[in-house]
Amino acid sequence: MSEIRYDGRVVIVTGAGNGLGKSHALQFAARGAQVVVNDLGGSAFGEGADTAAADIVVDEIKAAGGDAVANYDSVTDGESIVQAALDTYGRIDVVVNNAGILRDTSFHKMTDGDWQLVMDVHLMGAYKVSRAAWEHMREQQYGRIVFTASAAGIYGNFGQANYAAAKLAQYGLAQTLAVEGVKRNILVNTIAPIAGSRLTETVMPQEIVEQLKPEYVSPLVLKLCDEKHQETGCLYEVGAGWIGQLRWQRTLGVGFALDHPITPEAVVAAWDSISDFSHADNPANILASMEVIMGNLANQTKN
Ligand SMILES: NC(=O)c1ccc[n+]([C@@H]2O[C@H](COP(=O)([O-])OP(=O)(O)OC[C@H]3O[C@@H](n4cnc5c(N)ncnc54)[C@H](O)[C@@H]3O)[C@@H](O)[C@H]2O)c1
Repeated sequence: MSEIRYDGRVVIVTGAGNGLGKSHALQFAARGAQVVVNDLGGSAFGEGADTAAADIVVDEIKAAGGDAVANYDSVTDGESIVQAALDTYGRIDVVVNNAGILRDTSFHKMTDGDWQLVMDVHLMGAYKVSRAAWEHMREQQYGRIVFTASAAGIYGNFGQANYAAAKLAQYGLAQTLAVEGVKRNILVNTIAPIAGSRLTETVMPQEIVEQLKPEYVSPLVLKLCDEKHQETGCLYEVGAGWIGQLRWQRTLGVGFALDHPITPEAVVAAWDSISDFSHADNPANILASMEVIMGNLANQTKN
C-alpha cells in the first residue's frame, strides 16, 4: 500500500490551534503538506483572541522540519484565510473546516446571542472559507474539503440546539458541494468526531478526555483529503480509534391511491408500515429519494 503524502499540496485547517485541528495540522505537515494554521485563539465560548494558539502549532511543525504559516483571522473572514494560503504558497488544495465554539444552554434559556455566535463560527465560517477556496479549486480542477459536524447534530443533544443546528447545516452544505464539485474533482466529505479537548473537558471525566486522543481522528481526515480518494458526500463517525460511515435509511413506506382523499385516519391505519424499518432501503441521492415518491403519482385504485 502506497504511503499517503501531501508534498506540493497546500492545506488550510481552521481552528488548528488546539484539539482536533492541531492534530490534523501536525499530521498533514508530517506528510509534506504546506499548512495554513488558522486560529483566532479565543476561548471555548467564543470570547477574546490570541495569536499564541496558531503560533505554537506553527512552531511545533517547523521544529519537526515541516512547513506552516500562522493565520489569526476568524473563519467568518474566510477570504483572508484563503488569501493567506495564496500569498504564502500560491495555491489551495485542501480545506478542513474545523474551528468551533460552544454556547451550550437549554433551549428555553438560549439567547439570540448564543444562537447567532454559534451559527457564525460553525456555519457562516465554514461557508466563508469554503466559498473563498471554491473558485480556486474549480479553476485547478482539484480540491478536497472536510466539514466537521457532530453527533449532537445527527442525534440531538440536550443543551445544544444552536450547536446541533449549525453542525447538521454543515452536513447539508457539504452534500450540495459534493454534488456540485464532483465533475471538477472537488470531493467533499463530513466527519462527526469525538475527542478529548477543551470543548469536551467540561462534560466528560478527565480520565476519558485524556484517552480520547484527537490523533485518533486525524488519519481519517488525511485519507479523505488524499488525491487518490474517490468517495464524496459521505459522513463518518470517528473517535476513540473507531471509524464508521453513516447513511440514510428509509422505510419502504406506503403509497396512497390518489383517486380518493388521503385522510389522517388512513395514515393511522398505515402507520405500522410507514414506520417499519424491517423493510427499508438506503436512498443515496436526491434522484433515488424522489423516484419512489414521484412514482406514487400513478397510484390509482383503479390501476
Ligand atoms: N471534541 C469533540 O468531541 C467534538 C465532537 C463533535 C464535534 N467537534 C467539532 O470539532 C471541531 C474542533 O473541536 P475541538 O474539540 O478540537 O475544540 P477546541 O476548542 O480544542 O478547538 C477549536 C479551535 O477553534 C478555534 N476557533 C474558535 N472560533 C474560531 C474562529 N471564529 N475562527 C478561527 N478559529 C476559531 C479555537 O480557538 C480553537 O483553537 C469543532 O468544530 C467542534 O465542534 C468536536
